[in-house]
Amino acid sequence: MSVRYGAGCGTSCGTDLVKAAHFLQQGKLVAVPTETVYGLAANGLDEEAVLSIFRAKKRPHFDPLILHVAKLDALSLLVKNVPDLAYTLAQSFWPGPLTLLLDKTDLVPDLVSSGLPRVAVRIPAHPLTLELLARLDFPLAAPSANPFSYVSPTTAQHVEDQLGQQVSYIVDGGECEVGIESTIIGFENNQPTVFRLGGLSIEAIEKISGPLTVNLKQGQSPVAPGMIKNHYAPNKPLELGSIKQVVSRCEGDGSLNSLGILSFSEDWSDCGAGLALRLSPGGNIDEAARNVFAALRQLDKAKLSRIVVEKVPDAGLGRAINDRLQRASSSK
Ligand code: TXA
Ligand code: MG
Repeated sequence: MSVRYGAGCGTSCGTDLVKAAHFLQQGKLVAVPTETVYGLAANGLDEEAVLSIFRAKKRPHFDPLILHVAKLDALSLLVKNVPDLAYTLAQSFWPGPLTLLLDKTDLVPDLVSSGLPRVAVRIPAHPLTLELLARLDFPLAAPSANPFSYVSPTTAQHVEDQLGQQVSYIVDGGECEVGIESTIIGFENNQPTVFRLGGLSIEAIEKISGPLTVNLKQGQSPVAPGMIKNHYAPNKPLELGSIKQVVSRCEGDGSLNSLGILSFSEDWSDCGAGLALRLSPGGNIDEAARNVFAALRQLDKAKLSRIVVEKVPDAGLGRAINDRLQRASSSK
């Protein structure tokens, strides 16, 4: 695979980490690439800077942020009472698409954790962001770099399209390699619990942790936030179900040419729909994860009136993809 960094968008975008670090030191917003999705980053210990993240995303303050660090030892000032299993998971999967919920120290502003006693932390696996973090003496608070409740960005251009005016700089790290957000694990009486399915499969974690409890509460007000029901949603109505049934319904009412289709691997391009995309022509679930958010954005931008998406096989990253598709479909 060839990776080209810095080719993605306009003048406020590139690979100048000196510039990016300078803006962050001034309390400004910088979008950063990670292996999962792009983050909207600011100094995680500076309350004003953190406030500007919430403002730029129009994100409610009850939805807490993830702190990103470059090294495990940077965590000692941020979290305490770390369970042994958390260390084991960190050592096994970091840098990588895993976020741990751990007891926060007083150094972490309450705003970051939305007043909760635990803060979310991770070491992201992207060389540019790791290098950027190494230049800073503070962690980066970074939610996904999209307006609240919209689809997450997986290229610098996605960030520029929606938040270009709000950020001082976008670090362009190419297309995200995993493509969906990190898996979030917390600990209840030392028992590991999954709060968000994500880019690290449950199967992979369970090989290290043993059986996991899964607790994916859905609702409007997140006790386990990020779990807000109508997250990850395009602006157009999105139906999750049988493509075949929706196609024949649209044939019946003459609306097929304004239907957008997103299939897992089957080719629907000759059926007469307005646009038909495939997540992975070869049926590869990791490729499907990499493509899902870009495909939803493309369908949302196209001249279509509605979108139909089918579920993917429910194993490995397929569970997280289906979770996102479910949430994308429930709002409209
Ligand atoms: O892959 C990712 O995790 C990306 C990249 C940029 O690191 N970040 C990301 O952030 O997806 P965000 O803010 O879009 O989603 C983080 C979710 C929040 O919605 C929240 O539900 C959950 O993490 N979270 C954060 N802190 C929490 C806490 N203290 N307790 C419960 N959930 C928490
Ligand atoms: Mg998000």
